[in-house]
Amino acid sequence: IGSLDDVQAMLSELGISEPLPAFEAASVTTNPIDIFRSYIAEEMTKITGVSRDLVYPALEWTQTPDKGDLIMAVPRLRVKGDAKALAADWAAKFPENKYILPPSSAGTFVQFFFNPTLLAQITIPSILSKGLKYGANHSGAGKKALIEFSSVNIAKPFHAGHLRSTIIGAFLSNLYEYCDWEVIKMNYLGDWGKQFGLLAVQYEDTGSEEKLNEDPIQHLFELYVEANSKAKAEEERIKAGETLEGESMNDKARAYFKKMEDGEEQALTLWKRFRDLSIVKCEKVYARLNIKFDIYSGESQVGGDTMAKASQIMEDKGISENSEGAKIVDFVKHGHKKLGKAIIQKKDGTTLYLTRDIGAAMERYEKYKFDKMIYVVSSQQDLHLQQLFTILKLMGMDFVEKCIHINFGLVAGMKTRSGEVVFLDSILDEVAEAMHAVMKKNEDKYKQVENPEEVADTVGKSAIMIQDMSGKRINNYPFDITRMTSFEGDTGPYLQYAHARLCSILRKANIPMPLIHTADLTLITEPQAVLLLRTLAQFPDVITNTLKTNEPTTIVNYLFKMTQLLSSSYEVVKVVGSEENVARARMALFESARTVLSNGMRLLGLTPVER
Ligand code: ARG
Repeated sequence: IGSLDDVQAMLSELGISEPLPAFEAASVTTNPIDIFRSYIAEEMTKITGVSRDLVYPALEWTQTPDKGDLIMAVPRLRVKGDAKALAADWAAKFPENKYILPPSSAGTFVQFFFNPTLLAQITIPSILSKGLKYGANHSGAGKKALIEFSSVNIAKPFHAGHLRSTIIGAFLSNLYEYCDWEVIKMNYLGDWGKQFGLLAVQYEDTGSEEKLNEDPIQHLFELYVEANSKAKAEEERIKAGETLEGESMNDKARAYFKKMEDGEEQALTLWKRFRDLSIVKCEKVYARLNIKFDIYSGESQVGGDTMAKASQIMEDKGISENSEGAKIVDFVKHGHKKLGKAIIQKKDGTTLYLTRDIGAAMERYEKYKFDKMIYVVSSQQDLHLQQLFTILKLMGMDFVEKCIHINFGLVAGMKTRSGEVVFLDSILDEVAEAMHAVMKKNEDKYKQVENPEEVADTVGKSAIMIQDMSGKRINNYPFDITRMTSFEGDTGPYLQYAHARLCSILRKANIPMPLIHTADLTLITEPQAVLLLRTLAQFPDVITNTLKTNEPTTIVNYLFKMTQLLSSSYEVVKVVGSEENVARARMALFESARTVLSNGMRLLGLTPVER
């Protein structure tokens, strides 16, 4: 079903020869529900006399299936008169047809229920033929999205904020790619700043060439800990009135960073080694999560010339001002009370996190001319990103309208048993181990898994991801290994279990695929089966909605709703043991459910398992 003609041909095969009315907002080739929407909207236009473009978007989803497949709130059409009476009148006037059952009114709403047989005949073939692409749309065709996520710091610990940014960013990348956006995945490393000076100074003291090559992230982390505790001890001595013999760690670090900013080769060579080795290690760990960045950029990569240019614009436009030798932006003076003040250049002329972000944004737009740029960063940096966007706006950088900050809340208690999280892989390892232990508890099922360690790793990753994406992004949550690795409740393992169970039905039924694809779908009649079908038909709408909310929970929630319907239908909608034609039709339904589940899981970043 690639073109409008295909849709029309399919409908005429199903006994509907009238041409399907065309609506700009409808995507009938990718979304079965839009076929029904188009028909209903056209009829309602005739009945109400209201403009088509007002009627179409007034056909909304319902919260629960007993309220219909689509619902229309009469007041949305802005017709004078008693809304209740109008609802009843319009429902009664709806002509008899093949698409929907006779509509009914409920208060000020008109409720529409799709004809379940036609819905099956349109939806199931669409799912089976589109396969991995069922749910996708073409809304991003010709458009480019730059998605910056993960953005870990070299030489500073990995924390829960990075975990969430990685998971949510990868999800958004999948989602936009799925809908035909050209996506550029960027990791903007924290690879610049005074902490590098600190690290370099410590490396010259206690660093080891060998350890650095073996596990750069681990070794740099150790140096980071040593350097910081030394610096802290010194600060305390100064506070206590002591004088230090020689230069302090902080002074040395500052001096070292100054050398880096001035482009001194020796200082840069060491820094570059740290960076390169860290990236190699990062790539391996991201690969474990099926993530491959297109670009490892970073704070260090922002051009000095760009920042100088930005500084000039800010000065010329009166955005920045001098303050005791430094340059600052006083947002209050520009009408942004809540944003306070921000330093954009230190007294010694060095740049800051914010300065580099300004330059980075300008360079990114210059280079990629993106239609959308997404920053996936913790809500702890809300202020930082608001300051950034506001400065860009004041500077007259129109592309700021294309930038969005996708934020998220905190995770409590993300620690491994040894207490320190050095990088992602220590978390993945630990959860995989816990997952393995949970799997072993069911001896029978465990025996059927050929490669338990690999499955434990895969399901463990699902556990972490689903825990992270279950709630709204902004919510905080506790990192709870016992809960996330459970096969019960709204967990990753539960989704994996649901998928494996569908695979097992397919194996046991052993019906050749071509017979499933040509099944007689009028045989899908049980209420549970129809309910499941109606839910499967919603998947493309769920994707469209997710593109608006940028909330993974929109999909996660849907998948839990769908898998719950599945588990309550197995008893009634049996495949194995049913009459052959009935078995084929039901298998077509379950194979459709498996496809939707698998597509949803993949978008979220999970790898569905078969056993
Ligand atoms: N590296 C930063 C951190 O760990 C996050 C970077 C976010 N992105 C940005 N463009 N500022 O806190």
